[in-house]
Amino acid sequence: MISSVSGAEVAIEVHDLRKVYGEHTALQGIDVSVRCGEVFALLGPNGAGKTTTVEILEGYRQRSSGEVLVLGHDPARRAASLRQRIGIVLQSSGIYSQITPREALRHWAGFYPHPRDAEEVLSLVGLTDKADVRTRKLSGGQRRRLDFALALIGDPELIFLDEPTTGFDPEARRTAWETIRSLQVLGKTILLTTHYLEEAQVLADRVAIVKEGRILAIGPPRDLGVGAAHYRVAYRDASGETVERQTDDPTRLLHELTGEALARGEQLQELSVARPSLEDVYLELTADA
Ligand SMILES: Nc1ncnc2c1ncn2[C@@H]1O[C@H](COP(=O)(O)OP(=O)(O)OP(=O)(O)O)[C@@H](O)[C@H]1O
Ligand SMILES: [Mg+2]
Repeated sequence: MISSVSGAEVAIEVHDLRKVYGEHTALQGIDVSVRCGEVFALLGPNGAGKTTTVEILEGYRQRSSGEVLVLGHDPARRAASLRQRIGIVLQSSGIYSQITPREALRHWAGFYPHPRDAEEVLSLVGLTDKADVRTRKLSGGQRRRLDFALALIGDPELIFLDEPTTGFDPEARRTAWETIRSLQVLGKTILLTTHYLEEAQVLADRVAIVKEGRILAIGPPRDLGVGAAHYRVAYRDASGETVERQTDDPTRLLHELTGEALARGEQLQELSVARPSLEDVYLELTADA
C-alpha cells in the first residue's frame, strides 16, 4: 500500500509504477508524490515515459502494475467525480475541426459542475480574436492555446499539462507561464511535462528527470545542480584566449585567480562565475553512458 504522508495534502501519489507495451517496458518503477498546490515538472528525452506516466494518472491509459492515487482516487476506475476535478492538456489532441473555440469551450463547460466563464478563459489564453473561427483554420499555436483553454474551463483543482507550450511563440509562452503562475496562486496543483528547461526552471517547485522509464533525479530545480556538476569560472587571459575552469569552491578559485592577476598587474577580462543550470544537469544526467 501507499503510505500516504498526511493524505489531504497529497494530490498525486505513485508507487512502483510500471508499464509494459508488448515487448517494450516503458516504465520501470516510478515513485513520486506531488503535494497539493505544487507545480511539478516531468523532464526527459523523447520516449522517456512522460506521456505514459501522465496519461496513466489521467485515467487515459492502464498501468501494468504499481499503485496510483490521484486526489485520493485510483484513476483507472475513471470515476466521474475525479474527472470533474482535473483538467487536461494532452500531448496530441484531436479537437473537432468544425467547431469554433467559443463553441468548444461552452460545450466542455457543460461537463463540469462549476465551470469558469468561457469569455474569460478565451481572453486568458489570447483567443478572443479567434473565438468564432473554425478550429481547422487556426494555426498550430492557436490550437494549442485552445487545448490550454479547455484544460482550464472546468476550474479544476489539478491540471495535467503535457507539453502545453510546444509550438507557442515567445510571447504566448510567457503568457502561458503567467497563467500557470496565477493558477498556482489560486492553490491549484499542476503536473506538466516540457522540453523547455527554462520553462521548468521558471515554473516548477520540483522537477523529476526521467529516462528510460526511471527517475534519475528529483528535487527543486535550483538544488538539482548541487553535487551533479561544478561551478564554471571563465575569463579572457592577457593574450585574449578564453580560459574556463571548473571548481566546487569558486570562492577560493576566484581568490587565487584574481590575486595572481593583480600581482601581475593584469585584469581578468570578462570574468564570470556560472552555476550549473538545469540544462547542464539535465544533459549530464541524461547523456548516454
Ligand atoms: N501506445 C503505445 N504502444 C506501444 N508503445 C508505446 C505506446 N506509447 C508509448 N510507447 C513507447 O513507450 C515509450 C515512452 O513513450 P512516451 O510517449 O511515454 O514518452 P515521452 O517521454 O512522453 O516522450 P516525448 O518527449 O517524445 O513525448 C516510448 O518508447 C514509446 O515508443
Ligand atoms: Mg510525451
